[in-house]
Amino acid sequence: MAQVRLEGVSKSFGDIEAVSDVDLTVEDGEFFVLLGPSGCGKTTTLRMIAGLERPSEGTIYFDDADVTDDEPAERDISMVFQNYALYPHKTVRENLAFPLSLSRRDYSSEEIDSETERVAELLEITDQLDKHPKNLSGGQQQRVALGRAMIREPMAFLMDEPLSNLDAKLRIQMRSELKRLHRKLGVTTVYVTHDQTEAMSLADRICVLNDGRVQQVGTPHEVFSRPRNTWIAGFIGDPPMNFLHGLLERSDGEVFVAGDAFRYRVPPDVVEELDAREVAEDVTLGIRPRDLEVVEDPGQDTFPATVLTVEPTGERSILTAEVDGREIKIETEPREFMGMQGETISVHPQKTYYYDEADQLATVSSAEGDVVEAVEVTDKHVEEVRKDGDT
Ligand SMILES: Nc1ncnc2c1ncn2[C@@H]1O[C@H](COP(=O)(O)OP(=O)(O)OP(=O)(O)O)[C@@H](O)[C@H]1O
Ligand SMILES: [Mg+2]
Repeated sequence: MAQVRLEGVSKSFGDIEAVSDVDLTVEDGEFFVLLGPSGCGKTTTLRMIAGLERPSEGTIYFDDADVTDDEPAERDISMVFQNYALYPHKTVRENLAFPLSLSRRDYSSEEIDSETERVAELLEITDQLDKHPKNLSGGQQQRVALGRAMIREPMAFLMDEPLSNLDAKLRIQMRSELKRLHRKLGVTTVYVTHDQTEAMSLADRICVLNDGRVQQVGTPHEVFSRPRNTWIAGFIGDPPMNFLHGLLERSDGEVFVAGDAFRYRVPPDVVEELDAREVAEDVTLGIRPRDLEVVEDPGQDTFPATVLTVEPTGERSILTAEVDGREIKIETEPREFMGMQGETISVHPQKTYYYDEADQLATVSSAEGDVVEAVEVTDKHVEEVRKDGDT
């Protein structure tokens, strides 16, 4: 196991800079996820860590060793790709054992058998060992691919969207299995995905990439509850965060954000923070759909919103409404909002985000509870990994 560190790493393909000046540290034993939209440089970053691509600039370290110019085979890593490419003419057993035959170390046939069986047991595919890949389901094939990566205990696992070819149900099942396996093995893992739920549920920490650049690195809870800029805020969360623009107005010791069609009183704790940061008059107000509550009466801490559409989804309703000429989403209890199209309602934000002119998070209003349901906080599991590593 190892720490993986990137320092000032960039990669250009001709005129395209696919990865720009990336600094990252993946801690020993950590499950680290690279998350971002298509084309943001995730695969390129992973391929550089693997040694399949040489950085145009910068240095890659495994622990304290500079591996930038090492070949993939010298790096002691295992990769799992989206297209898991099992050898069709080999049985599951032969597929699993194949990396051992490539190893520089000579494995005896007894060792190969016992290793193969150990991995098969771990992944619960023992009864599939003598089958050929074409006779397995997608999920079973994916397990074989994982098993092939796990048959040696490498310094690090590198995984590029390994679950994206599976159907939704299997993907969720494999997700928890991956997590369980990581907990058990504690091997440093760098995992690429564009799926935020997958990232949230698997990661100890997430690195959000856009346009080849690191936007934010943090625990799932951190990137969700304190997104550093409006791009991340709009990327993480579904439906995404709503944004309104306004000017800060001061009167009688109170501060308001005023648009053309709203005037919202800023909570006092936020005012302090905005003053401390000397935030300019122009602010972008961010509000997550789930933090908006439909209330009976308009007030200083509500917005007037005109209902455009109502989508009941069973557990909740999503209202699309217009505030100050912008469309926003409101996630509410499945009350009877049908027939309200065209009506103006009052909505109260329980939590607000303030972004300054430079598009940096200036402050967040304190919300009651501050619970992030979509996220399983994994600090405990990092601790477990560390403990396992000590013994
Ligand atoms: N071998 C290559 N030659 C030229 N351009 C490349 C090459 N590999 C990647 N790129 C470009 O670099 C950028 C980043 O690509 P990359 O494959 O790393 O993105 P990604 O985040 O993995 O996207 P996806 O989610 O679609 O897999 C893209 O603009 C891509 O077109
Ligand atoms: Mg990719």
